Amino acid sequence: MTTSASQYHEVYKSWLDDPEAFWGEAAKDVSWYKPWDSVLDAYSGQYGRWFSGAECNTAYNCLDRHVEAGLGDQPALIFDSPVTDTVKTFTYSELTDEVATLAAALVDLGVKTGDRVVIYMPMIPQAVMAMLACARIGAVHSVVFGGFAASELATRIDDAKPVAIVSASCGIEGSKVIPYKPLLDKAIELSQSKPSACLILQRPMAEASMIAGRDYDWLEVTTSLKERGRKAGPVAVKATDPLYILYTSGTTGQPKGVLRDNGGHMVALKWTMKNLYDIKPGEVFWVASDVGWVVGHSYICYAPLLHGATTLVYEGKPVGTPDAGAFWRVISQHKVASLFTAPTAFRAIKKEDPDGSFVGKYDMSCLRALFLAGERADPDTIKWAEAQLKVPVIDHWWQTETGWAIAGNPVGLGLLPIKYGSPTVAMPGYELHVLDEAGKPVAAGESGTIGIKLPLPPGNLPTLWGNDERFRESYLSQFEGYYSTSDAGYLDEDGYVYVMARTDDVINVAGHRLSTGQMEEVVATHPDVAECAVIGVADKLKGQLPAGFLVLNAGVTKDEKEIEAEVVKLVRAEIGPVAAFKNVMVVPRLPKTRSGKILRATMRKIADGEDWTAPATIDDPAILDEIQGVLSSRGMGA
Ligand code: COA
Ligand code: AMP
Repeated sequence: MTTSASQYHEVYKSWLDDPEAFWGEAAKDVSWYKPWDSVLDAYSGQYGRWFSGAECNTAYNCLDRHVEAGLGDQPALIFDSPVTDTVKTFTYSELTDEVATLAAALVDLGVKTGDRVVIYMPMIPQAVMAMLACARIGAVHSVVFGGFAASELATRIDDAKPVAIVSASCGIEGSKVIPYKPLLDKAIELSQSKPSACLILQRPMAEASMIAGRDYDWLEVTTSLKERGRKAGPVAVKATDPLYILYTSGTTGQPKGVLRDNGGHMVALKWTMKNLYDIKPGEVFWVASDVGWVVGHSYICYAPLLHGATTLVYEGKPVGTPDAGAFWRVISQHKVASLFTAPTAFRAIKKEDPDGSFVGKYDMSCLRALFLAGERADPDTIKWAEAQLKVPVIDHWWQTETGWAIAGNPVGLGLLPIKYGSPTVAMPGYELHVLDEAGKPVAAGESGTIGIKLPLPPGNLPTLWGNDERFRESYLSQFEGYYSTSDAGYLDEDGYVYVMARTDDVINVAGHRLSTGQMEEVVATHPDVAECAVIGVADKLKGQLPAGFLVLNAGVTKDEKEIEAEVVKLVRAEIGPVAAFKNVMVVPRLPKTRSGKILRATMRKIADGEDWTAPATIDDPAILDEIQGVLSSRGMGA
């Protein structure tokens, strides 16, 4: 691994010296209908807007542009689904036709530019097609992850107010078929805002019953359009117009609608494909995530296609579909140049196959790097992956809000030395400072909240959907002139960043971002629960798992175990299986400060078996011993 040749420092400095010139240059890699009036209009929006005045179309840049350049026969999307025993490739021409047809279907269902469309789909190519079809007609998609329950879907429907919903009859999770349509029907029943149409892809594993006048069959509709040769072309939208809304967990039950615009998003993503990921057009980039998460939006759907590379949609798991060699099979079969996934996926493989006995069965000489994100990559997992794959393993740090990496090791610019436990350095676009409580930068090596100096770079959220005030309050109000990442950590002498923990109640479970505050809101609705606390405890496989502590109402005589089981069921029904909320215990009291704040951080330390001391502000120190007693009776807390 030679590192002296890295151009990173030079490139970062060129950005720092003149951000507008840097992004203006990067924007030449995108095709525009109308150029911008200013690269950054510092006086618009919440902290400025990128490429104001420009017009473009994201789907055109992802599809038609490559066909027009003569790359129509090149593979654009490979679908690999071990759970349905399917492998299918779509060329750029084929994908463009599918998307243009689907876009016409949406127009016929009444979707206009600026309207929202909710997409609730499993990991199948039609999910990507639906996203691109919306982008093509200037509609704003909002993809909802399949592991969320009906009420979560309903919350998103009520916030986004979609004209139409695109869904499939079922998803397949390992060996389980999960019918989606009953969840969709229930969500629409629960929501105030009703879509006028639903386009449903029927899958043979679980066909959905359709509601006349509202539900339309994907295959019937698109077949008829194809017979008539009806397609919709890309429309010019403003660079600053919304491309999508992606809801993410915040500190309350109301998820935040992270907004993404068209122009800056394309510019930033296109830049990362070469400079960060070192992918050339025509190569296969595999992101083993889900289109329901930001990583899936940026790097399963948009960036590889903007770059003229080949994306891979994988409907399977790292283990069990059929074994711990699944990833290696996909890499060798499709000649994957780089894999990007969450550390938890590698921990799952390592648990099943610690010696890497499946690795040698496949020729993976095509693989050049592994990228990890979504949660802190623990050094053990990185070292295990390096030993097995013999390629650089790159941890990089980002958030739904940013849409692309805040910090990483830019392989395309030349690899920097890897320091285990650090996602390396700030990418151009991001000036990072570790801040103390007063918002003052601290010295290297000192911990604090990591802030990004405003303006945020292109591709980052300009605001929250329909809620500028919540945007300012959540991200800009804590530190003057900064976006607060709500991640705590430190920078070392070389500018390497270390991201250690969230400063709010967001936890990361198997690479899925969840709010313990939201879980508490649900748990508190149980009639026998007087008060509760949910914390994230360390887990060897999933990184963190939620644990719930319940104090019951006085006089409750029901069996505690029964109540615990009901609470587990409640969270699964209200938030969804993705919450992985299975660990619940009744406790006599919750530890609090004298002013009544629950001491969640101390409870977490006890549960994780870390050293802890009772905070000086505690009301009754004996309660912490009670908590430790309950935890140890459950085999937790060392
Ligand atoms: N639709 C419906 N249900 C889903 C789902 C989906 N798309 N995804 C997960 N679920 C369900 C699972 O079936 C499971 O249900 P169960 O409680 O009935 O078993 C539950 O939600 C929890 O899922 P998960 O925590 O993902 O566990 P898992 O055992 O199914 O899979 C991993 C473990 C590690 C393989 C998986 O979590 C993974 O691949 N994580 C990576 C996440 C990621 O890509 N994050 C984005 C950042 S890169
Ligand atoms: P999400 O919005 O789902 O992508 O989750 C973002 C959060 O995940 C961040 O705020 C971090 O807390 C965490 N995260 C993501 N990537 C990393 C990483 N490479 N290292 C440490 N934490 C990470």
